[in-house]
Amino acid sequence: LVIVLDFGGQYNQLIARRVREFNVYCEVLPYNTDIEVIKEKAPKGIIFTGGANSVYEPDAPSCDPKIFELGIPILGICYGCQLMSHLNGGKVGKAPKREYGKTEIEVDSSSKLFENVTRNTTCLMSHTDYIETVAPGFRVIAKSESCPVAAIENPEKNLYGVQFHPEVEHTPEGVLMLKNFLFKICGCTGDWTMSSFVDMSVRYLKEKIGDKKVLCALSGGVDSSVSAVLVSKAVGKQLTCIFVDHGLLRKNEADEVEEVFTKKFDVNFIRVNAQQRFYDKLAGVTDPESKRKIIGEEFIRVFEEEAKKIGKVDYLVQGTIYPDVIESGLGKSAVIKSHHNVGGLPDYVDFKEIIEPLRDLFKDEVRRVGLELGMPEHLVYRQPFPGPGLAVRIIGEVTPEKVKILQEADYIYREEIAKAGLDRKISQYFAVLTNLRSVGVMGDERTYDYTVALRAVTTTDFMTAEYVEIPWEVLGRISRKIVNEVKHVNRICYDITGKPPATIEWE
Ligand code: XMP
Repeated sequence: LVIVLDFGGQYNQLIARRVREFNVYCEVLPYNTDIEVIKEKAPKGIIFTGGANSVYEPDAPSCDPKIFELGIPILGICYGCQLMSHLNGGKVGKAPKREYGKTEIEVDSSSKLFENVTRNTTCLMSHTDYIETVAPGFRVIAKSESCPVAAIENPEKNLYGVQFHPEVEHTPEGVLMLKNFLFKICGCTGDWTMSSFVDMSVRYLKEKIGDKKVLCALSGGVDSSVSAVLVSKAVGKQLTCIFVDHGLLRKNEADEVEEVFTKKFDVNFIRVNAQQRFYDKLAGVTDPESKRKIIGEEFIRVFEEEAKKIGKVDYLVQGTIYPDVIESGLGKSAVIKSHHNVGGLPDYVDFKEIIEPLRDLFKDEVRRVGLELGMPEHLVYRQPFPGPGLAVRIIGEVTPEKVKILQEADYIYREEIAKAGLDRKISQYFAVLTNLRSVGVMGDERTYDYTVALRAVTTTDFMTAEYVEIPWEVLGRISRKIVNEVKHVNRICYDITGKPPATIEWE
């Protein structure tokens, strides 16, 4: 285990990712984590992240200086490096020149941290403060033109610090530096893999759950599905999955989920066909937020009714994953998500405790676990799909007829994108049924039908996104196919707006 101590840097998750890419397990903890907790976890190494403060500000995030006496190797990055200097008696001040962007540095490759790193290498600098005087016991191991102390070390105490960001791509040899830290300095072995994760989790879940009952609200999404399968590997039919079909899923999706969970895995699977209930509630509603609210509430009601039939359960499984954990308030960089999946269940189901088997994993790791568990690729690589489903992709009132039109158009779109080999290259793509109708001509007849909009974006965090430049030829094919095959659609538009200013969904 390696601990990433978070001082509020924007790259904290990226550092964790880099470490895990070397098959070294790591956890991000807030900077003010009690030193006893850290000691108990007995990490092989600690990484201090960057942060937005100056170490000499009165309320700047800091840590217990005893951490430097634990004998655990520490790597400080940017703010973390300055803090390491500061707490060990060095002097940090405002740099005469702010350094930002790709910068050439000269490294001393006799340091273990820079073994095999090119003497003159490039890195990403982003700082206004710098180390004026190194702390006693430390020496300088890298410099740039305007930063005389670009990296420091105290090899006796296994303390290392870099002013730049080794975790980003703009530091091409940063990966090598992190690797040196993990393997040459911390002595990590790099044996943390997805199959070891599965084995470990199954063992843990078996022991934890014993002969008790577990309930899972299955949405068909990647996270809840993988969580459910993992739990089912541990306790089989002691797990009941409730899958609410609200009639707002994509074409065939509900059947596919049912098929996987009834044929392939050993769980009690309950599908609730609540389509009509949702359509009834949505009749006449056009406001996007009202739609979300209605669907969320109805979902809870349906789930509750089913859960009541089962009676008391001991555990509830949730598909929380690591970015959710970090985002909901670790350290100082916390951002709270504005979108929630349908079903924030805990307050109305009678259970003892929540189990979140994936809470330590990133999305792509969750996918790898899914594959390891033998789940089909269409489930494992399913793109994100909003809880309120197609209701927020049908502009204006939702009716069963419109759902059907959209399902068909969206299905063709997805099929063609996959055929063109673009499906894994696009983060999210879907069709939208606008409530615009326009005049067209089909054969000899005048039509007055709907316009379907196509959306495709790439993004890493869904907070910002770019539209994708799908080749004209592919778009043309999709357009012809939809208009020819889907009744009541006579016009196709492609959405070329980024986020911001637009959002990914239309509602
Ligand atoms: P926007 O449209 O805000 O979407 O750019 C960002 C991401 O969030 C998804 N999204 C939702 N997910 N419930 C959800 O579970 C919602 O109400 C909701 N609205 C948007 C959207 O699909 C995209 O991935």
